Amino acid sequence: MGMGALMQVLRQLPEIEDRDLLVGPKQSDDAAVYRISDECAVVVTLDFFPPIVDDPYTFGEIAAANALSDVYAMGGNPRIATNIVCFPRELPLEILTGIIRGSTDKLKEAGVLLVGGHSIEDKEIKYGLSVTGFINPKSIVTNSGAKAGDVLILTKPIGAGVITSALKGGRVSEEEAGDAFISMKRLNRDAKEAMTEVGVSACTDVTGFGLLGHAFEVANASGVSLVIRSKDVRFFKKAVPLAADKKNRPRAIATNMEFLKDCVEISEKVDEAVEVLLHDPQTSGGLLIAVDKNKAGLLVKKLNEKGVDAFIMGGVIDKRGCRIMVE
Ligand code: CO
Ligand code: CO
Ligand code: CO
Repeated sequence: MGMGALMQVLRQLPEIEDRDLLVGPKQSDDAAVYRISDECAVVVTLDFFPPIVDDPYTFGEIAAANALSDVYAMGGNPRIATNIVCFPRELPLEILTGIIRGSTDKLKEAGVLLVGGHSIEDKEIKYGLSVTGFINPKSIVTNSGAKAGDVLILTKPIGAGVITSALKGGRVSEEEAGDAFISMKRLNRDAKEAMTEVGVSACTDVTGFGLLGHAFEVANASGVSLVIRSKDVRFFKKAVPLAADKKNRPRAIATNMEFLKDCVEISEKVDEAVEVLLHDPQTSGGLLIAVDKNKAGLLVKKLNEKGVDAFIMGGVIDKRGCRIMVE
């Protein structure tokens, strides 16, 4: 769903009062966090979606990496997961076996146990996971701690939505789209470890609302504004030329643009295809991190040492109105 529609629904929910609910629906963060003791809290999240790629195994891997990401984005360690399966009666069961095999292998890589799940018949395949993790309550990283002067770091390139829609339309080859798939399959665990070692102000992962939508969530939750330098944002190899063709733009780009139009200011110098990509919905995207400027170099170094393609692409400023300025 679009950000606007979702917020409209969430506003209708009754408020929850519980002193152990450390992060809940009010914060619109990546996952809920509930305290068990002074040393331990559980991190709970759920994600599922229709296939973005034909190969069932690859889809399973990406769905798992994507579902785990919300736990990593809070600084947590995912431990157990349950499947959510919607599957059409007419399709061969080998497809589902492939999806779950891909997912299970990815969970194993992350040290997460698949302990159960639920399946229903549906017109269209959908797959995902509910993931539970643990965290020390003192180490929670929310999206609300960004401070003026912080530097913004992103840990994966952008453009997965445009690339997967071009692939579906046969306008890019699997080989040319390869870098996006390697990235989507990659866990955000290494990025999370580097972030925990250094200590950061705020974090969220970049998924369906696009880089600017998730940047807006951070700005809004933290009460600051953000500057994004589009020249410093990295895109997948074919993303910019593909984004120039309207046929490759997923519908969510327009939804994200419409929702964000009053809070985002985009310089006229920014290329139209780049503007489109900054709104592009990501699957299993990277972590968007706000970190003290004195620690930013160390964090990028640690991320790069772990093989994470991380880069500095903006900063946090003290300006009212939670705006996002793109230069
Ligand atoms: Co998230
Ligand atoms: Co999510
Ligand atoms: Co968070």
